[in-house]
Amino acid sequence: MVVVAIAGGTGYLGFNVTPALLSHPSKPTVRVLARSRSERVQALEEQGAEFRLVDYKDPASVAAAVEGADVFISTIGTKEAGPEVKVPLMKAVLGVKSVKIIIPSEFGIDHRAVDFPQKDWDGKKAVMDVLTSQTEKKIISIYTGLFMEGSFGPWFGISIKNKYVEYIGSDEPVSYTSLSDVGRATAEIVAKAAASPAEVPAALYLRICGDSVRYSEVATIFGEINGTAIEVRHKNLAQFKETTLDGDRNTAACLRFLMGQGDLNHSKDCGNEWVNPGGKKWTWTTVKDFAEEIEGKPFGGEV
Ligand SMILES: NC(=O)c1ccc[n+]([C@@H]2O[C@H](COP(=O)([O-])OP(=O)(O)OC[C@H]3O[C@@H](n4cnc5c(N)ncnc54)[C@H](OP(=O)(O)O)[C@@H]3O)[C@@H](O)[C@H]2O)c1
Repeated sequence: MVVVAIAGGTGYLGFNVTPALLSHPSKPTVRVLARSRSERVQALEEQGAEFRLVDYKDPASVAAAVEGADVFISTIGTKEAGPEVKVPLMKAVLGVKSVKIIIPSEFGIDHRAVDFPQKDWDGKKAVMDVLTSQTEKKIISIYTGLFMEGSFGPWFGISIKNKYVEYIGSDEPVSYTSLSDVGRATAEIVAKAAASPAEVPAALYLRICGDSVRYSEVATIFGEINGTAIEVRHKNLAQFKETTLDGDRNTAACLRFLMGQGDLNHSKDCGNEWVNPGGKKWTWTTVKDFAEEIEGKPFGGEV
């Protein structure tokens, strides 16, 4: 039986990935690594997960917690833990013989397209540098675009409450994936890769997307559900980009111009077929499905 160890499995994303692993038909043993036996850990134990207490500052503690696992996944957050936590963590995991496949905490933009220094993606790149400096273990990076549940808000130029969407540059398609689809996709990827690790390339970069829609389409979808017109605005890309890069390069603002450059369009070079051939394993949630589910009110209508 495949043993999967997951670090960060209690978090915003991890609490979707861990249950998806636990309920996958391949029935892996799922081991949750966490810094304390929190309520979320206990909830996951009730669903069948094993728990390992871990001190990320101590490589021996990490190695002992991961020992015997075939697959290691990190869904540790980006804001709370940068490369100072994740690089030593991955070095410790690389030292564990049983591990054949490593999935680092990516789950966002395919940052190979990001050609400027930025704190969050520099941290992710530092982890990838360590992982791709070896070929003994297979590395799978899962790029999901934006999480649907967290993305229809003013930080990305969208306010359904104030009836506008605002894109930067071009009205390019932007890829969104629901948290539960990210969980399902990760569980499928683990099952498929663990079944025949020899067939997985040394570094596999999988861009997936539940749906890819333009800002103007977001306006139409939410406008129809709310029975109102949503204004579509736009800003000049060169100007917005220059101001953002001259400033603190906050992640949301950088993502806004990257969207306008088409860098968050995962429908190009998309790995959905690898993960969910013909959509036969499950039906991806579309932005329209999501908008209907929340009755057209992102964040309960607060934004
Ligand atoms: N595409 C998108 O729209 C989007 C949005 C949000 C996040 N993401 C990405 O998804 C991934 C997971 O993010 P998240 O927001 O789900 O993470 P999160 O909830 O902030 O954190 C996940 C877990 O990481 C552990 N953790 C927190 N701080 C830590 C530290 N200093 N050292 C070690 N462990 C720590 C905690 O587990 P324990 O306390 O149980 O140890 C926590 O439950 C990241 O790569 C992030 O960039 C993408």
